[in-house]
Amino acid sequence: MNKKLLAVIFGAALMLAACGGAKEETTTTKTGTTTETATVNAEKIVNSKCISCHGGNLEGQGNFPALNNVGSRLSENEILNVIENGRGGMPGGLVTGEEAKEVAAWLAAKK
Ligand code: HEC
Repeated sequence: MNKKLLAVIFGAALMLAACGGAKEETTTTKTGTTTETATVNAEKIVNSKCISCHGGNLEGQGNFPALNNVGSRLSENEILNVIENGRGGMPGGLVTGEEAKEVAAWLAAKK
């Protein structure tokens, strides 16, 4: 009798744990998707507006500095400043507002 009861309780606990686990997984997946969307967005912007000068893999070319490691040289704010205001041969205002921030954050992570 007691064993049976224990088994039922144990079984219920397992089911609860399984449900909890599944829920957590869904949340994780959702967060991952959101982050990915932002990344894809920044990447898309860079791929359409920046690679003509900075190289298809952001590896830099000629007088255009590489951006694939720019995070090791400049902070996110400094990158944002270059994007918004330009610097030397770098035209400012190619990307503005939220998009500029997203791109700056994305580039700042490239080290
Ligand atoms: C017309 C060509 C051109 C385009 C398009 C361009 N850049 Fe640049 N970029 C430059 C040049 C030239 C420099 C170097 C400026 C200097 O030496 O002061 C530069 C420098 C930079 C720097 C500073 C790099 C460092 O190591 O200091 C960042 C960050 C940057 N660009 C980001 C971007 C982003 C983001 C885009 C797309 C929105 C973009 N650039 C598009 C020409 C370009």
